[in-house]
Parts: sequence; structure tokens; C-alpha cells
Amino acid sequence: MLQKLIPLFLVIITKGVLLAVVSTALATAASSTNSSFIFNGFQDANIRLNGAAKIEPGGILRLTNTTTNDVGHAFYPKPFPFLNSSSGEALSFSTSFVFAIVPQFQNLSSHGLAFTISPSPDISAGFPDQYFGLFNMTHNGNPKNRIVAVELDTIQNKEFYDINNNHVGIDVNSVISLSSAPASYAVRSSTGPLFHNLSLISGKPMRIWVEHDGKNMQFNVTIAPLDVVKPYVPLLSSIVNLSSVFLDQMFVGFCSSTGAIYGMHYILGWSFSSNGNAEDLDLSNIPQIPGGVVQENSRKPNKPLSIVLPIGITLLVLSTVAGVLIVLVRRRKNFSEVMQDRDTVYGPRRFLYRTLYRATGGFSNKNLLGSGGFGKVYKGQLQKSKKEIAVKRISEYSRQGMKEFISEISTIGRLRHRNLVQLLGYSQGRDLLLVYDYMPKGSLDKYIFGRPQEPLNWPQRFKIIKDIASGLLYLHEEWEQTVIHRDIKASNVLLDAEFNAKLGDFGLARQLDRESNAHTTRVIGTLGYLAPELSISGKATTNTDVFAFGAFMLEVTCGKRPVQFRTSGVQMVLVDWVLEYWMKGELIEARDKRMGGDFAAVEVELVLRLGCLCSLPEAASRPSMSQVVQYLERNLPLPEISVCNLSALNSSTPNHRLVVDVSSTISDGVPISGPPS
Ligand SMILES: *[C@@H]1O[C@H](CO)[C@@H](O)[C@H](O)[C@H]1NC(C)=O
Ligand SMILES: *[C@@H]1O[C@H](CO)[C@@H](O)[C@H](O)[C@H]1NC(C)=O
Ligand SMILES: *[C@@H]1O[C@H](CO)[C@@H](O)[C@H](O)[C@H]1NC(C)=O
Ligand SMILES: *[C@@H]1O[C@H](CO)[C@@H](O)[C@H](O)[C@H]1NC(C)=O
Ligand SMILES: *[C@@H]1O[C@H](CO)[C@@H](O)[C@H](O)[C@H]1NC(C)=O
Repeated sequence: MLQKLIPLFLVIITKGVLLAVVSTALATAASSTNSSFIFNGFQDANIRLNGAAKIEPGGILRLTNTTTNDVGHAFYPKPFPFLNSSSGEALSFSTSFVFAIVPQFQNLSSHGLAFTISPSPDISAGFPDQYFGLFNMTHNGNPKNRIVAVELDTIQNKEFYDINNNHVGIDVNSVISLSSAPASYAVRSSTGPLFHNLSLISGKPMRIWVEHDGKNMQFNVTIAPLDVVKPYVPLLSSIVNLSSVFLDQMFVGFCSSTGAIYGMHYILGWSFSSNGNAEDLDLSNIPQIPGGVVQENSRKPNKPLSIVLPIGITLLVLSTVAGVLIVLVRRRKNFSEVMQDRDTVYGPRRFLYRTLYRATGGFSNKNLLGSGGFGKVYKGQLQKSKKEIAVKRISEYSRQGMKEFISEISTIGRLRHRNLVQLLGYSQGRDLLLVYDYMPKGSLDKYIFGRPQEPLNWPQRFKIIKDIASGLLYLHEEWEQTVIHRDIKASNVLLDAEFNAKLGDFGLARQLDRESNAHTTRVIGTLGYLAPELSISGKATTNTDVFAFGAFMLEVTCGKRPVQFRTSGVQMVLVDWVLEYWMKGELIEARDKRMGGDFAAVEVELVLRLGCLCSLPEAASRPSMSQVVQYLERNLPLPEISVCNLSALNSSTPNHRLVVDVSSTISDGVPISGPPS
């Protein structure tokens, strides 16, 4: 179609006319005054870019980069007045922009973007992912931020009370929105405004209007598809007193971030006025997104020939630009297979195999940190940043759909908690390589089992137990989805240089939406930590994690593995051993004597009792992780349960811990994986 049109136009139009039209089109693309500006496309626009943000050759402002999980910032370089310094009143402003979010996979969203008003155009402290590159976890919510943003959010973060994965929100100093609504626009109907839903990740350009009336403290946000005139009712209309948020001078711009699943965030046009209404964007002049949807407005029929011609030429120019862009995008797609080698502090990213090969000295045995049921772990150091990493190499991973894999990585990578080992990135090829923060002190089992060189004292052990409880609480209850760890045990707990404990190995973690059930076909876990019901149903739940955490508390306190084999070959289960002491009224004697004399008996007993409570065979009788944390913090008294009841419960289900046929070949604490019996 395009090929047929081009010669036709070339016949009609001489080169000279074409050049003249192109240069006038470029000249009108951007203009600004002291109190306003308009960019119909960003060709030659003076915009301050940061991170992944870039102005594409066709004049599109692109905020994201397909190869990095990075932030992108784009700010107008000069500030505008936002506060009347004599009256202290917030000033009015108005802005309108056209954006498009083009997801990597259809219907699969990554993180969103935000129109931002900030004291500084440099927000380099902003984290990607759910923070939109605006805030980090420490200063999110801090009134000193003085940031006002309109978020276009495409992921539901329950910890920020997001209403869904497709909403618009007004944010003041925090990504927890003051007010938000599902993306939609109002049309008139006989019964009043009727809101039509919009999908932010449809890949189609959409227009937004943000208007603030300082006198009335009215803050309105309106969104609509390009072919719809400005809806008569805004989507969000809030009364916000911004006088204590705004400064005399503020910068305006856009902040964005993607995740491991990337989406492209484009701004196609932007108009702003610090006083009065922002000028209307010239939709026929804004650039088109590569491979994007043809704008309806640029095809206006029934116009006199004199207007149709220049529009035709503009179309021609735009299509040529689009053609070039398509070529560029194709090229970039090829290029993106060559993954980047750049060290960032955030989120999971793709590493080159080569990078990790070099970092680990070719996966040399002298860098081997350990090996488990799922692969070997190597220590490494990134060449450029000198950052120390741990690389888990999984050789035989099932090649499920690429999509499923990436979404899993992106889930794991978005989990952020001080008591979880951070997944930094991955490389996927013949082997699956997962890159984690390196934990200098290694895994906890070395310090509690056998003959440890540095036995831990009680305060260290108690802190480790509380650390892991807090990490597990985050997985179960505080993150946007319930994540079940499935393999809690001392060897999966890693220690940093200060003996802070972090829960590692999410190789087994699967997301479990609160509503849905986890259907598993295999029982995965470690003998001695497996809850009895797991062997029957094969279904991992938060309760089975709590069971494993109970075994973990006991082993850390007693310095013994949860299942041991006596020299006689008889199996000894740790919880029974503890219960024996309890029944004799000498619970404290069950502790690991290597912890020395510096211990608080109440704490040791509390942990032992709680460990028994979590080991109850009946899933419903076990506490939840939030209760466990409250018991450990002693904010909640432990329920009074007599030891006789406990042991009666345990012995009434005599097989509860014989979850797998323990043949003589299995030694203690060996990872197992096999079909449910
Ligand atoms: C994405 O970012 C990387 C690293 O900053 C850079 O090398 C690459 O050129 C960027 N890609 C695009 C398409 O801009
Ligand atoms: C994306 O969602 C739309 C609307 O729900 C649906 O029609 C379409 O089939 C989906 N596409 C894919 C690839 O799932
Ligand atoms: C978060 O941002 C604040 C303010 O810019 C900065 O002082 C702090 O160091 C940042 N915290 C992290 C963890 O990056
Ligand atoms: C529009 O979206 C909202 C929120 O996602 C949903 O509850 C509602 O059913 C949708 N309406 C239509 C007509 O699809
Ligand atoms: C807005 O907030 C400022 C500072 O907190 C206060 O002085 C002012 O009275 C408020 N304005 C109104 C109308 O409530």
C-alpha cells in the first residue's frame, strides 16, 4: 500500500515543495514561552533525559529501554512557578499529553509511568518497578519528597493498595495514591456520564489532561482515546491542598520504569501551561508509534484539496518516518538478543552468558559455593562493577513457555525485602543461570549443625529466626500475591557479613494468587520439613510453609536436624525430642549447649514452644506467619497449650512425619522431589 502511494505523491509534488513542508512541520513541532510550552512530537525538543529515556529519530519520546529494567526520566529543563510566595497558595496549572504503552507480550503488563511535578529534574534516587522511578522504598511516603504525580499504573501492587492493574491515580509524595480509578472515560448518556473502560496496555495512543485549579484546590485528571474529544466529566476530580507540597519553582516531566517483562512507554506530544489552559495538541502532527495504530484524526475526509494535500504530505513524511522506525525497531529487536552487560542495583535483568562465565572463572570448581537438588551455586565477581554475586546454574530446567518463565523471573525479581536474598538477574540459554546477591557468611547450616567453627550465640540465633519470620511474612501476607516458599530450611537461609539472615532459593516458589488454589503435581521439599498434609494432597500452602518454619526454629535452637537417624538406625524426629524435654518440665535443656551461657530462658522457651505449635499435624491449628511474628516480638502471648495435648495430637497421627517412604538410603536433611504417595 505504502509502496504504491509513494511514487504517486512524488509525481504530484516536487522536491522543493516537500522540503518546504517538512521544514515548516519541524518548525511548528515545538514552541514554548515563559509560562507554557507545546511539543507536537519531540524533534529537536530541549528535554532533560535520564536513565533509559531517549528521543527517537522520529520525534517520539521513549521512556523505556527493551534491554534494561531501568528508570527513565524526561523533564522540561526549566522550572515553573507553582506557589504564590506571598499568599502561600498553590498555583494553577494545566497539561495535556499523548502517551502509549506497548507491552512486550500482548495483554501482559509491566510497570507504568507517571506525569511528575518535582522540586528537581534529577530523581536519580527513584527505583524502578512499582516505584515508577519516582521513589525508593525508604523515602516513599516522606513529606519531604514534595512530589506530585499522576500515575498510569498497569500492575496491581497490593502493598500500595492498588485497586487493579489498569488504573489512573493522583499521588502525593508516595505511590500510594490519594485517589484512583480504573482507566476509563465518560460519555454522555441519558442517565448521566457513562464510563467506558480503556486498557492502558493496549498499545494505542491515549490523551491525558491534568488540571489543577489553585484557588479551589481542584485536581482533575481526564483520559480518552485519541479519536475522542475531551470527555465532559473528568475521571478523577479531587480536592487537594497542595500548598504545603509545592515549592515556588517546580519541574515537570515523566518518570517510568518497566520490569523484566518490558513494555515500551512513549510520549508523543506534550503541552503545558503554568497559567490558564494548556494549548491543544495538534494530533495530526504528532509522531506515530512504531508499528502503532493509525490515528483516526489524521484522516479527515471532506476537506478542500488545499488542506488535503499538505495533510497527505505530512502523512507521507510520517509514514516514511514510521517506515524508518519499523526498520529501526526490527534492528533493535535483533540487537536485543545480544543482552546488555551493565550493572544496575535494581530488579532482575538479563545477563550475557559470557559475562557470568567470566565472572565465575568459567564456573570453576574453586568458585563452587555449594550444590543442591536444583543446581550448583558459584561465587563470581562482575568485571566492571566488581560486585560480588552468587550464580545458581540449573542445567536441566524444563523449557516451558518463554512467557511463563519470564513472568516467574519477573515475579521473583520484584520481591524486595531485607530478609530475602535479592535476585539480580538471569541468563537463559543451554543452562538457566540465576544471579543473586553474594552472601559472605554462606548458609546457616554450617553454623548450627555438626561441629561448627563459629557456633552462634543465642542473640544471633534469635535474630536469625526473627529475620526469617519477617521475610516469610512478607511472602505470605505483605506482597501483592501470596508466595509460598516451599523449601524453608537452614541451608536455604543465607547470612550476610553482619549475620543478618536472608531467605534464599526461590527456585521452588510459585505464585499463588490468594483466590486460587495451588495445584502441584510433585511434592517438592525436604524431608523433615514437609507437613503431613503435603504428602496426601501434594498441595503446598502457607500452612505447609509454617510447618517447615516450625522445624526451622527448632533446629536453630537445638542445633539438630529435624530428622536424624540414631546409630541404631531408628528415626528421631526433632519435635518429639523437644516434646520429651517439655514433658519432663525441662524444656530449656533442649537447647543447643554450644550457644553458651548468654541466653534469655524466656526467649529460648518461647521459640521452642512456638516451634512445636507450628509443627502441629493439623494444618488449621498452626498459627499464621503474622501471628508467629507477633509471638516472637512478644506482642501477643503464646496460647496456653499443654504439652500432653500436643504430644497426644502428634501420636494420634503416627505417620504424620513419615511423609515419604524413608528407605535406608536417605540420610538426614536430603532434598527430595518425587510424586506424592
Ligand atoms: C538500552 O540501554 C543500554 C544500556 O544503557 C544501551 O546500551 C542501549 O543502547 C539502550 N537501547 C536502546 C534501544 O536505546
Ligand atoms: C488480549 O485481550 C483481548 C481482550 O481481552 C483479547 O481479545 C485477546 O485475545 C488477548 N490477546 C492475547 C494474546 O491473549
Ligand atoms: C532513597 O532516596 C533518598 C532521598 O533521595 C536517599 O537519601 C536514600 O539514600 C535512598 N535510599 C536508597 C535505599 O537508595
Ligand atoms: C470496567 O473495568 C472495571 C474495573 O476493572 C470492571 O469492574 C468493569 O466491569 C469494567 N466494565 C466493563 C463494561 O467492562
Ligand atoms: C492548605 O494548607 C496550608 C498549609 O498546611 C494551610 O495553611 C491552608 O490554610 C490550607 N488551605 C485551606 C484552604 O485549607
